[in-house]
Amino acid sequence: MIKKGIILAGGMGTRMSPLTKAVNKQLLPLHDKPLIYYPLSVLMLAGIKNILIIVNKGQLNQFRKIIPEKNNFGIKIEYKEQLSPRGLPDAFIIGEKFIGKDNVVLILGDNFFYGQSLTKTLVKSTKLKKGAKIFLHPVKKPNAYGVAKINKNKKVISLVEKPKKPMSNLAVTGIYFFDNNVIKFAKKIKPSKRKELEIIDLLKIYKSKKKLSAEFIGRGGTWLDAGNINDLYDASSYVSAIENRQGLKIGCIEEIAFKKKWISKKDIQKSIIQYGNCEYAAYLKKL
Ligand code: G1P
Repeated sequence: MIKKGIILAGGMGTRMSPLTKAVNKQLLPLHDKPLIYYPLSVLMLAGIKNILIIVNKGQLNQFRKIIPEKNNFGIKIEYKEQLSPRGLPDAFIIGEKFIGKDNVVLILGDNFFYGQSLTKTLVKSTKLKKGAKIFLHPVKKPNAYGVAKINKNKKVISLVEKPKKPMSNLAVTGIYFFDNNVIKFAKKIKPSKRKELEIIDLLKIYKSKKKLSAEFIGRGGTWLDAGNINDLYDASSYVSAIENRQGLKIGCIEEIAFKKKWISKKDIQKSIIQYGNCEYAAYLKKL
């Protein structure tokens, strides 16, 4: 069982400047909550309570205000700073001590996942003992992402980071499940042309050892990457449309913790006081 998760919430957010000049991208609003609530809720839905959040140097206090180490979410939060954006695999080098001898799941702080069967697939993936597992999702413009080609048996046969001519429409989404070798492998890879360690290179090591498997978020599920302005607004409208229609919130971390019995009514009450007079707190009251 994977019990530890890392949220990589670093990056300079240059694609979103000037919005990100003073505030980290992951703290910008996605409809009614900070963006980071969504990947955090995904880890929680996977049953992960032990979470390391990696943030940019100098931005720790911003994050602590929203997700404090001492929280009412029923989870254990740790923080580490990333000195410069060295790429996704750097998370495993920074997080070496946190990971210890365990397996780990990594989720990107700007990725949004939603769908009915998602929780089931997530929980199943935490059972990973050896190797690595990725989640693939069809997209119209795969060239903006890591792309995977699969064969008839749904095995990954090739992986390319942002290919000019994509070999398929399957993007490698920003959630990855790894065994403990990930620390060793992350230390082995060399920076790419964009001077970053690439997650695709890490996955290729697993693939070469025949230790890479894939899950599919089909057309009934949603994966959005809120890494640029248009995508952030699209994701925001998506959440707003569903929440307004159903009267239920997506990514409400207290609700998830409460339903999982990780927190009590008292904890929710504390949160309500902390949030103050707002729509989010009113929703918590209804719980
Ligand atoms: C990163 C990964 C890419 C993946 C994407 C998902 O891209 O390098 O393989 O598909 O996240 O959001 P980046 O955000 O660095 O452009």
